[in-house]
Amino acid sequence: MSKSPEQRYFSVIGNPIQHSKSPAIHAMFGEQTGVDLCYVAIESQPEDFVATIADFQRAGGQGMNVTVPFKEHAWRLADEHSERARHARAVNTLKLEGNRIYGDNTDGVGLVADLENNLGRNLADAKVLLLGAGGAVRGVIAPLLDAGVRSLTLANRTSQKAVALAASFRSLGDIGGGGYSDLPDTAFDIIINGTAASLSGDVPPVPTSVFGDQTLAYDMMYGDRPTVFMEWASASGAASVSDGLGMLVEQAAESFFVWNGVRPETRPVIQTLRRSRG
Ligand code: ATR
Repeated sequence: MSKSPEQRYFSVIGNPIQHSKSPAIHAMFGEQTGVDLCYVAIESQPEDFVATIADFQRAGGQGMNVTVPFKEHAWRLADEHSERARHARAVNTLKLEGNRIYGDNTDGVGLVADLENNLGRNLADAKVLLLGAGGAVRGVIAPLLDAGVRSLTLANRTSQKAVALAASFRSLGDIGGGGYSDLPDTAFDIIINGTAASLSGDVPPVPTSVFGDQTLAYDMMYGDRPTVFMEWASASGAASVSDGLGMLVEQAAESFFVWNGVRPETRPVIQTLRRSRG
């Protein structure tokens, strides 16, 4: 895609990147809000990450989304960080301002917006179970606690990682961590899968007692079909399930706002993407 001189210029950087939905999402946001933009996908090797961003900045780039595996690289590269990026220690949104780079993280607010606005879940007072203790989970902890959840429980295959991660956020709210076998024998309101288990077709070994007749099981991943976690959660007694497509669109909308100062409507974009995958 070639950019005309008057267009605002954005991109997403990752590896792999060819299946990214971000260019389509931002093109829809641009049309909807009247922001004339060009948004491209850029694949980079880890050793070229810094040079690729500098090239994009020289070419007039104003903002970038950052996806796997570069969110921590972007955190290290940014000259200045938002508070939510500092909590996540990862950056998914770069604002390129002259030769300064501002790093933000919109993943967590994207998840909260999807749960509350699209899926109709009231987070205030919810008992939430978060599976995993890697980068994806770290990025959503502070926004979930900020949303007023009653309790946040982290469970991870390597239990010490969940214990340490929970300890590092204790000042922000009621949070605890442990292994899957430490989970209480009671149901949670919302269970969020932030592990990479689905990539190998696995589900985390969670006891089925965590599913109750109100439980939403949410997978931060998405694909053309329901994920293995969603199928397993439905079969294990979850009342409802969702993939992370809404989170993807919501985090994109927040990035769009950071760059353009305009907040696009997410619902029609989510509907279009769901329709196009059949
Ligand atoms: P990301 O940045 O995407 O979160 P990561 O930092 O590599 O990636 O973390 C991957 C997470 O998925 C970890 O919580 C990992 O558990 P461990 O800390 O015990 O490694 C979890 N994970 C990966 N494969 C898994 C599997 N097959 N079953 C359960 N958890 C798994």
